Amino acid sequence: MSTKTVLATAIVAVIGVAAGAYLGKTYLASSGAGLSETDSATVVLAGTKGSNDQASAGLRDAARSGKIITVKAGQSIQEAVRSAQPGDTIQVMPGEYKETVYIDKDNISLIGSIQDGHWPTLEGEGKLNDAVLYSGNGVRVENLKITHYKGNAIMGQAGNNFVVRHNLIVDAGVYGIFPEFGKNGLIEYNVLSGIADAAIYIGMSDNIHAAHNEVFGNVAGIEVENSRHVIVENNTAYDNAGGILTFITPGLPIKTTQDVVIRNNFIAGNNHKNFGAPGSIVSGLPSGSGVVIMAAKDVIVENNIIRDNKNAGIIVVDHKQFANVTADPQTDPTPTRVQLLNNVMSNNGYDPISDIKALMTVALTKEGPDVVAAGTGKDNCMLDKGHYHTLGLSDYPQCARTNTADISTYLLDKPAEPRDITITDKGKLVYYAVCAGCHAFNSRMIGPPTVVIQSLYPNNAKGIADYIAHPVKKRDDFPAMPSQDYLSPEIRAAAAEYMLNVKQ
Ligand code: HEC
Repeated sequence: MSTKTVLATAIVAVIGVAAGAYLGKTYLASSGAGLSETDSATVVLAGTKGSNDQASAGLRDAARSGKIITVKAGQSIQEAVRSAQPGDTIQVMPGEYKETVYIDKDNISLIGSIQDGHWPTLEGEGKLNDAVLYSGNGVRVENLKITHYKGNAIMGQAGNNFVVRHNLIVDAGVYGIFPEFGKNGLIEYNVLSGIADAAIYIGMSDNIHAAHNEVFGNVAGIEVENSRHVIVENNTAYDNAGGILTFITPGLPIKTTQDVVIRNNFIAGNNHKNFGAPGSIVSGLPSGSGVVIMAAKDVIVENNIIRDNKNAGIIVVDHKQFANVTADPQTDPTPTRVQLLNNVMSNNGYDPISDIKALMTVALTKEGPDVVAAGTGKDNCMLDKGHYHTLGLSDYPQCARTNTADISTYLLDKPAEPRDITITDKGKLVYYAVCAGCHAFNSRMIGPPTVVIQSLYPNNAKGIADYIAHPVKKRDDFPAMPSQDYLSPEIRAAAAEYMLNVKQ
């Protein structure tokens, strides 16, 4: 069989935007410390620690200097952000808040107060796009329940030194927690379900620690894409279509994924039906995939429990398996120095997709794979290969490394320098974060390709900017485009300019 068809459907670039998928799942609520009214932000944060994880202590326990602004049900969180100064803490009392919160200031803490089991809830009513959008540095989001948004629950755009912890996110659209272009960030103790793409999506970011999260009932559980120095540990990923993924997706401005440690996670029974929006690329992820590594470099997989994933436990593939994504000459498509150390694996691959079945036939085996590798690979290895059912790993030698004890954290000792982004960068960010979810460069996604739009609007960025503020229905064979009027006019103009000039 040709390599082109191998696992063609197994591969996803989780950049697709899905709309309106709903999963009426229940989720496990955890209790949180009740906060008392106080005028010291430091005291408030002391009540929210709840973790003795040394690896992340510096970022999590950093003292806050400012005042506390309390928001009660019926009041606006955004109003509180508007009046806040860097260093302030916004304490959100239990109740329902139907709004999108934009945080463009530095060192703001948005912290829910949970009382007698009642959480402050951001309710998108299936109408609002995002719950929390931050671009400030040193932002902290904690103790919130977020539900029924269409786009993202918590999205960061170029904010460094962030902490997102202890949130309950259910049925919140396309991405749950999505830091993009962030450096030095902690994502821990969050519970996410019913997300139509990746529940935790670490995109184009550096030095990130994702630990003790529970992700279930999503299309993808945790995804590390075009990011470097990331540890994903002690998470529980079950009943997603795919559990934990790390990719280089071609065509994005950051071209590498490197130094990713996936360890001590429980990755089981990720056999959920894939409910990614039809036409979105993520909808091609085969249900039943535990860990998927695509084109990434220096990925270590250690001490996970990986079981009952019906397609395969671990899948290692290159870009050539892609059916419909344009190759990017600036990315290296080959998974390199992937190190599969000791993991507990059982009962994976009991009902694989036809491409894997074909590989099994060629290998004269009836046992579905704990681990399958397809396409090219370079300097990959596996410890004690004989312990598992493997397919396509004949060129994987025994690993020299036996554990990751030497890697405790990739978080930085000192806060990263605040990233100061210009309006041009913002245009690029919004293009990739928002527009590219529906507009691929030269293929049809949810909207028409960017090349088609470029030809319709020669030298007319203003025309694009005007259209996206008030889109009108133009094509019978496409859905309507949602209005982008939640973006400021300045940002709409910058995104339009970027769309008009982007080359691939
Ligand atoms: C949720 C999906 C979605 C998102 C997000 C999205 N678009 Fe669209 N866009 C569409 C669809 C669908 C159409 C086709 C609408 C039609 O023909 O009626 C479209 C059409 C367009 C057009 C063509 C207008 C014309 O005259 O034919 C432009 C320009 C455009 N989008 C720009 C953007 C920009 C810029 C962004 C980011 C700020 C963006 N879109 C975000 C779905 C989306």
